[in-house]
Amino acid sequence: MGVACRRGPTETMWFRGGRHGAVAVALAAAGVLQMILIAIAPPLASAMPWPACNSTITGNYTSNSTYDANLRLVAAALPSNVSTSPTLFAISVTGTAPDTVYALGQCSGDQSASACHDCIASAFGAAQRLCPNNKGAAIFYDTCRLGFSDRDFLASRTNLQDQEVDLYNGQNVSSAVVAQFNATAYKLLGRMAEYIVTMDSSANNFLTATIPFDVTYPVIYGMVSCTPDLTPRQCRGCLDAVIAEFPGQFISNTKGARIAGLRCLARYEVYPFYNGSTMLQLPGNDEAAAGKTSHR
Ligand SMILES: *[C@@H]1O[C@H](CO)[C@@H](O)[C@H](O)[C@H]1NC(C)=O
Ligand SMILES: *[C@@H]1O[C@H](CO)[C@@H](O)[C@H](O)[C@H]1NC(C)=O
Ligand SMILES: *[C@@H]1O[C@H](CO)[C@@H](O)[C@H](O)[C@H]1NC(C)=O
Ligand SMILES: *[C@@H]1O[C@H](CO)[C@@H](O)[C@H](O)[C@H]1NC(C)=O
Ligand SMILES: *[C@@H]1O[C@H](CO)[C@@H](O)[C@H](O)[C@H]1NC(C)=O
Ligand SMILES: *[C@@H]1O[C@H](CO)[C@@H](O)[C@H](O)[C@H]1NC(C)=O
Ligand SMILES: *[C@@H]1O[C@H](CO)[C@@H](O)[C@H](O)[C@H]1NC(C)=O
Repeated sequence: MGVACRRGPTETMWFRGGRHGAVAVALAAAGVLQMILIAIAPPLASAMPWPACNSTITGNYTSNSTYDANLRLVAAALPSNVSTSPTLFAISVTGTAPDTVYALGQCSGDQSASACHDCIASAFGAAQRLCPNNKGAAIFYDTCRLGFSDRDFLASRTNLQDQEVDLYNGQNVSSAVVAQFNATAYKLLGRMAEYIVTMDSSANNFLTATIPFDVTYPVIYGMVSCTPDLTPRQCRGCLDAVIAEFPGQFISNTKGARIAGLRCLARYEVYPFYNGSTMLQLPGNDEAAAGKTSHR
């Protein structure tokens, strides 16, 4: 299946910025074949990746400082350390205080090792470009995320707000269905958070799911994931916190939205945005079809 088939024909993602980011940047996520279909030209088009960085919070390092040298060591090793890990996840603590670099990298559970390696390596380059000299930065791609800081954020079992990004689809569902769409999308998110607690730990806290909706949008697709070092219960806690942020961050008629952080992320869209088979298929109507939930 080509890329064009995997993406919604009218997909336009909008970046609200990192939680501490002041500027909202529009992003055209359209593939080449979609350009003919897209009428809305975002005023400030920018591509993946999406950064969360703010030197007021993290401070800056100077070039060629010890911190810079430590960060280079991490950048040289982490892409391999993440991509060769069976869980596509690695953390790193490099150097001694006050120049310790804490870092975390993770690829989505549907990624190959080589795609993962490239993604994490690109993220270090993007951090230099998008958050120059920031001691701390978080960089988000669709398929991987990287964070580093001089703060020990690794101890946290939930997302730190200055290491989170909010993204949403610029297109809306029609006002006639918005209440039901909203309810269905949140049902999908909530069920995924519940279900992930019941999963085998070898699944590494990664879950894709679908729920049927209507004729126009037959299926809503969802994904949740946590770093694999969280227990299922911690993962659920992280996801619950993220999902609770959704209503405050997104209008309820947006066709797709996600909050991505370094510990967990949650996303829904009206098109399939992940590779691999759907792991959990939810019934459209809970009460009527409670027994029909299947997973594979
Ligand atoms: C950076 O963070 C500070 C403190 O939270 C905030 O006041 C400021 O607006 C942020 N700057 C940007 C560019 O987001
Ligand atoms: C960090 O460096 C950037 C780029 O040089 C600069 O704009 C910013 O003000 C600096 N931040 C602090 C807190 O010094
Ligand atoms: C950092 O080191 C490199 C290589 O030694 C040098 O080319 C560069 O000018 C240095 N930069 C600063 C800001 O000192
Ligand atoms: C990468 O993994 C190796 C082997 O486990 C470890 O020795 C090294 O410290 C790691 N590198 C970083 C930057 O964490
Ligand atoms: C979507 O709806 C919001 C408010 O509900 C509106 O501000 C925005 O312009 C709409 N977007 C499109 C593409 O119609
Ligand atoms: C959408 O659903 C969420 C979760 O149930 C709720 O908090 C929010 O108020 C709903 N939005 C609208 C406009 O109904
Ligand atoms: C899915 O796989 C295709 C083909 O390998 C690749 O081009 C695409 O980037 C992948 N998408 C994701 C979200 O991994």
